[in-house]
Amino acid sequence: DLHSFPTRRSSDLVLIGNWKMNFNMHEASLYLHNLMQLLPSYRDVEVVLAPTILSLQSLSLQINRRIAKLAAQNCYWRDHGAYTGEIPAAHLRGIADYALIGHSERRYIFIESDKDIRLKVQAALRNRIKPILCIGETAQERALDETKDVLADQLTSGLANVTAEELGQIVIAYEPVWAIGTGDNAKPADVKSAVATIRRHIAHLYGKAAAEQVRIVYGGSVTVDNAADYLAIRDLDGLLVGGVSLDSHQFKEIITKAHSKEK
Ligand code: PGA
Repeated sequence: DLHSFPTRRSSDLVLIGNWKMNFNMHEASLYLHNLMQLLPSYRDVEVVLAPTILSLQSLSLQINRRIAKLAAQNCYWRDHGAYTGEIPAAHLRGIADYALIGHSERRYIFIESDKDIRLKVQAALRNRIKPILCIGETAQERALDETKDVLADQLTSGLANVTAEELGQIVIAYEPVWAIGTGDNAKPADVKSAVATIRRHIAHLYGKAAAEQVRIVYGGSVTVDNAADYLAIRDLDGLLVGGVSLDSHQFKEIITKAHSKEK
């Protein structure tokens, strides 16, 4: 059970702002400028911003990496070739520190398969980009009480061919699909039990030590008001914030809560 995992991994938290398809290059640059003015560099909170692909490169020149890191929202898994419109992880190397992979909007709007996601995880790792592997059940799967199976299946598939050593580079984002962008955020108790399910399955795949070490964050209608409830979950390592991260002041407030959380 959850309490059998001592928190021996670092108590540092990761807070990811997923801008989705918002902010053009000018707006993105302005946002980053504002956030860097607002935020001191907190050593115990890793802040990660995920702008659209177009802004990534210019933000990578503007950003102070002691204050925040950058994530791509997606990447393609082949390194080059006749794949019109795609951006390979190979081109993001050195620009993005992280890449969101398998976000539910990619899975369900753009019909990404488990195989696509697995290949993208590997492409990111091969190019020194840390994958943020997003998993989570739909409303229907939840109603059918399939959450545990869905999480296990998505982990098994997404992490196939990932070594125990590489697992240390990965962040798992638990994002119940029904909670994303709906205002219907998951109850902290449910997040706690999902995190326990994830660690249990990682233990099954990689052993107990790896399960204790892997970083897991929650995403889905996180706000300034509900953030502290999740940050209080001992086995959770941070948050993935969508809509609310578009307001630099609100995002900064969530980051500050993570920083001032009692360790
Ligand atoms: P939300 O999005 O915070 O707007 O619900 C979270 C996400 O999709 O990562």
